[in-house]
Amino acid sequence: MSRFWSRVVSALTPYVPGEQPKIANLIKLNTNENPYPPSPQVLAAIQAELGADAARLRLYPDPNADLLKAAVAKLHGVTAQQIFVGNGSDEVLAHAFLALLKHERPILFPDITYSFYPVYCGLYGVDYRTVPLTDDYSIDPADYTQPNGGIIFPNPNAPTGRLLALEAIEQILEANPNSVVVVDEAYVDFGGISAISLVDRHDNLLVVHTLSKSRSLAGLRVGFAVGHPALIEALERVKNSFNSYPLDRLAIVGAVAALEDTGHFARTRQAVIATRDALTTELQSLGFEVVPSAANFIFARHARRDATQLAQALRDRSIIVRHFKLPRIDQFLRITVGTDAECQALTQALRGILG
Ligand SMILES: Cc1ncc(COP(=O)(O)O)c(C=O)c1O
Repeated sequence: MSRFWSRVVSALTPYVPGEQPKIANLIKLNTNENPYPPSPQVLAAIQAELGADAARLRLYPDPNADLLKAAVAKLHGVTAQQIFVGNGSDEVLAHAFLALLKHERPILFPDITYSFYPVYCGLYGVDYRTVPLTDDYSIDPADYTQPNGGIIFPNPNAPTGRLLALEAIEQILEANPNSVVVVDEAYVDFGGISAISLVDRHDNLLVVHTLSKSRSLAGLRVGFAVGHPALIEALERVKNSFNSYPLDRLAIVGAVAALEDTGHFARTRQAVIATRDALTTELQSLGFEVVPSAANFIFARHARRDATQLAQALRDRSIIVRHFKLPRIDQFLRITVGTDAECQALTQALRGILG
């Protein structure tokens, strides 16, 4: 606290990202990164951008990242006018809160969800109401019929990993024709079907994606949104009032290369899904209850052992997982799906801890 702080800053409760440890040789299963490297084409594209004419870095990048919008449009069968790109999906989401979710009425999101949503509400002064997930940690569309200023949820949800069917999303869209519904599809490639297929039918739908998870590019910071051109224009207005160049030259060419390498994408995605399913079975055999996951992480609690103690015991064995000390989920661990070897090290450690 300082007398120089604005009132807004004094009142903020910032998001706390998962730990990025500086110590080597840790098995890092705490922030849902992809265990596999990105497509080799990404590095080639970045090197080409630098190598062709390093002096190019002297010039600003394309403020509209048209190359990237064209690649997203081709991949998802939409037009460039339906696409917004940003510095990670967190930035895209932040702009959506200010541009599309800040109205008179409170917005709605699940009680157990991505913990950045209430932080954006705090930053932008957006009123919100949380809607409890059902007892099996599902979103029930019938709970999203109350008056609201907008709706946002991840699908699959985080940190539960549970998927909501497209029909249920359509029910929410149809029940709320005068609200924007933001579907945050950070993890959809690991087991869901994207709601991008619905944007032409619903002018109130904004679908947000990231290249951080299924494209292994958390370090490059690229995200995008797809929706009706009027929604996209709102996001562009905020972006051009904040930072005209959210994506640098290397991020633009790297992201395009990642989206174009569909073979690498399919292989690494399948590997993560197969490891997730094997890890689920292993954890169940060790006495964990596992929420069905369509994501690259598993949300699990042990029948008899306390989650804080388990997380600490794993850490003592150089394995880090995420534990949220929050109501309803304080006995769960969120475990990112690593390589087969990392997951085997995890289950071996758990076997030792559980005795
Ligand atoms: C549900 C959800 N949405 C968005 C993000 C942000 O992703 P990024 O800013 O890396 O694109 C995350 C990151 O963990 C997430 O879990």
